[in-house]
Amino acid sequence: MILSFLCLLLLLALVKTFHKLWWTPTRIQKLMALQGIQGPSYRLIYGNTKEISNMQKEAMRRPINLSHDIFPRVQPHIHTWTKSYGRNFLQWYGPQPVLVVTEPELIKEIVNNKDGVYPKQRPSNFMKKLVGDSITITEGEKWAKLRKLSNHAFHGESLTNMFPDMIASAKAMAERWKNQEGKEINVNEEFRLFTSEVISRTAFGSSYLEGQKIFEMMMKFYPLLYKSFLKVRFPGMSKVFRTSDEIESDKLEKGIRDSIMEMVKKREQKAVAKSGEEEILGSDFLGLLLKAHHSTDEKNQISLNELVEECRTFYFAGQETTNTLLAWTVVLLGQHQDWQEEARKEVLQLFGKQNPKPDGILKLKKMSMIINETLRLYPPATLLRRKVAREVRLGKLLLPANVELLVTPLALHHDPQLWGQDAALFKPERFSEGVSKATKDNMAAFMPFGLGPRMCVGISFAVTEAKIALSMILQRYSFTLSPGYVHSPSQFLTIRPQHGVQVILQSL
Ligand code: HEM
Repeated sequence: MILSFLCLLLLLALVKTFHKLWWTPTRIQKLMALQGIQGPSYRLIYGNTKEISNMQKEAMRRPINLSHDIFPRVQPHIHTWTKSYGRNFLQWYGPQPVLVVTEPELIKEIVNNKDGVYPKQRPSNFMKKLVGDSITITEGEKWAKLRKLSNHAFHGESLTNMFPDMIASAKAMAERWKNQEGKEINVNEEFRLFTSEVISRTAFGSSYLEGQKIFEMMMKFYPLLYKSFLKVRFPGMSKVFRTSDEIESDKLEKGIRDSIMEMVKKREQKAVAKSGEEEILGSDFLGLLLKAHHSTDEKNQISLNELVEECRTFYFAGQETTNTLLAWTVVLLGQHQDWQEEARKEVLQLFGKQNPKPDGILKLKKMSMIINETLRLYPPATLLRRKVAREVRLGKLLLPANVELLVTPLALHHDPQLWGQDAALFKPERFSEGVSKATKDNMAAFMPFGLGPRMCVGISFAVTEAKIALSMILQRYSFTLSPGYVHSPSQFLTIRPQHGVQVILQSL
């Protein structure tokens, strides 16, 4: 009796596995092919992850000199498969079907949808350990509540109040460079310190040293997260057997959580010591999160767990992206001395040798053009992930539920049909009459910060931070790329300069 019951259970498990690993992928592949959507064939268990990984390794082996034609290098599979199968194609992360969409009209439909048909894709186990169910992932009322909080913390008056801290961090960085004249320095490393310090100071009211422990753990976490992207594990396997990466990431997750809790307690104790009043909790992002946590209004309240997840998310989102933006801007200005000179002239006209002012930052037109062109060629965030919540029509396609949708700003930004045959060249003049003229009103042609309601909440923060840093560098130094710089854009969590950005500085 027990034996037959066990046999029945085994049979059911086999049927379920067959259904998930073979029947469903085959059905979806056929369904999409009937609608003209082709792609690399589904392969049992792994899907196309091995091909993607091999193509990435192969592309990274090829040197590219100082070319900005980075799409074939950073996303070789998408570059190759859009050529073979068309602008939208189907690929497989294990048994998960992924529709890669590079057609602007469809992208607009996906990211602007308000019916909840295209929610964010659920994060992998590793990603969950980093950001949890935070603003970047969650949906509905919880998302609206968290978005309101961070909108308040990173815009308007709150952003203006962050100005002195951003200036102080940029000044400290420029001071560190004083004795480096004529020598090679890796500005990518410098920008890592700078962006870490800025988010620590402005959002969490702590110095870089205090946030350092958190960043160090995050830096150790990133490679584990990146490695996990193309790893397929047999369903349920992680419950039975834990890999060394999973054990390590658990430890790091706990460490980050403990450090954030320490910071939260410190802030609460300070508030109690001062007057016991809520106002003393502070007006920065951490203060706003704490007020929401202590709020008696249930609608606005957030749990302690949610508070920790938001902190983790902003440490992550607030640093890595702006770091790479600054690094690539310096590469491009190092290569294009004429634009470096133009940018410096503008900064000196507006600020002289004085610290940048908020109204002046808004007037930096040439610098905005340079930053936009950098974000076009090297968009830090390369993949936006959504899923199909229920059967839906997207353009002329009928999509079944649970298909993942992948949008890649890199493909759009490098598309000659959208940007012309010189799409891979650095030409900030494209943006001389603003973004809408540059894109001929095709919003999806330029989307470094995403589009629609889930667009980046840190745009103004990131751009202000970058403009302050660049202004204060240009006021003090001219720079050229060092002969030791090796151009190697590589896909990590963002598009990173694999070997850093080495420049030679001259004081002005
Ligand atoms: C150059 C710098 C940055 C770039 C290129 C960038 C890019 C993006 C993109 C493309 C998205 C949309 C993702 C999607 O639709 O799936 C996004 C969302 C987000 N970004 Fe940024 N980001 C940058 C800086 C920042 C900074 C400095 C912060 C925080 C201070 C931040 C916080 C966030 C958050 C919280 C979201 C999720 C918003 C939501 O889902 O409502 N980002 N970012």
